[in-house]
Amino acid sequence: MKALILSGGRGTRLRPLTHTSAKQLIPVGGKPILFYGIEAIKKAGIDEIGIVIGETGEEIKNTVGDGSKFGVKITYIFQPEPLGLAHAVKISRDFLGEEKFIVFLGDNLIKDDLKKFREYFEKNNTNSLVLLSKVPNPQDFGVAELKDGKLIKLVEKPKKPPSDLALVGVYFFDKNIFKACEEIKPSWRNELEITDAIQWLIDHKLKVDALLIKGWWKDTGKPEDLIEANRFVLEDLEPDIKGEIIDSRIIGRVKVEKGTKIIESTVRGPVIIKNGTKVIKSYIGPFTSIQEDCYIENTEIEDSIIMDKSEIRDVKGRIEMSIVGREVKIFQDHSRPRIHRFILGDHSDVRLVE
Ligand code: TTP
Repeated sequence: MKALILSGGRGTRLRPLTHTSAKQLIPVGGKPILFYGIEAIKKAGIDEIGIVIGETGEEIKNTVGDGSKFGVKITYIFQPEPLGLAHAVKISRDFLGEEKFIVFLGDNLIKDDLKKFREYFEKNNTNSLVLLSKVPNPQDFGVAELKDGKLIKLVEKPKKPPSDLALVGVYFFDKNIFKACEEIKPSWRNELEITDAIQWLIDHKLKVDALLIKGWWKDTGKPEDLIEANRFVLEDLEPDIKGEIIDSRIIGRVKVEKGTKIIESTVRGPVIIKNGTKVIKSYIGPFTSIQEDCYIENTEIEDSIIMDKSEIRDVKGRIEMSIVGREVKIFQDHSRPRIHRFILGDHSDVRLVE
């Protein structure tokens, strides 16, 4: 069985982060989102993976490589325009061939072990298997309508959801999906929708099974989803202190990588602080991930993701539920006149308190 990870797309809802970087490479819990998908597929016993890439493809290739560091073989498939998930599947036909395969959305995170679903799909004579998760906001997802436990209909972002069961971004297909992707028409947003392709299978009497997942699942489409995904991943963090801890308090599950210095600070886990970062006279609170080579001084941060080489100094209020990109500077300016001064990229989002 092969796997296809979809890592093209525009990532418009994650601007400004996606102006400069692929959304699938945004780190949560200290690691790019995409790495969790590759690892989950490998764990399910699949080691041939195709990754669909778009305009951010070079960065993805440079970061993921040929797959050898994950123990898998990766083939890149270029999608010139993000014309939909079903379009991405359609253009991957040569790579996928005749075998059954799994499709994994590169910006999704799932806790459940995929092996049991793979086994179900291979043992039962079914043309497709979709996974469902109970969500509080079904109107934001593809939603499943079931009758006597059988999937009868899928609706994309319905105003009146027929259930609270959202379609998880992991799907199993056989080659019938290619016919479906050929037959369906683009939606109002000019995309070939995977929900329409699956509905085509159902309407043409092909067997589509649905199973409910038990653990958490996160589709990281929006900034708040990234913060929640970071929380989910950090829940399972194994404590491990390799850096230098000087006159500081470390409480709970904290991972501090080699080459990191924590000086006169308090760190309350779960927290990961990556290689080369310095934390001085600061408080780092639960559910925070700080990437490599950052500098944090005289600042309180909680429930946030701070990306590589950023510098945060002397911020008065606590920074919470924030995502700070790479090489960002946030600091208190003591000079006169007392002004706010911003140099912000397009679509930045800054919230100030008095
Ligand atoms: P989406 O989140 O549906 O789309 P997007 O990445 O374009 O984001 P936005 O709506 O904020 O602009 O995509 C889910 C995953 O599938 C994501 O990893 C990107 C990938 N994808 C493709 O590979 N090709 C495509 O044509 C589309 C639409 C998405």
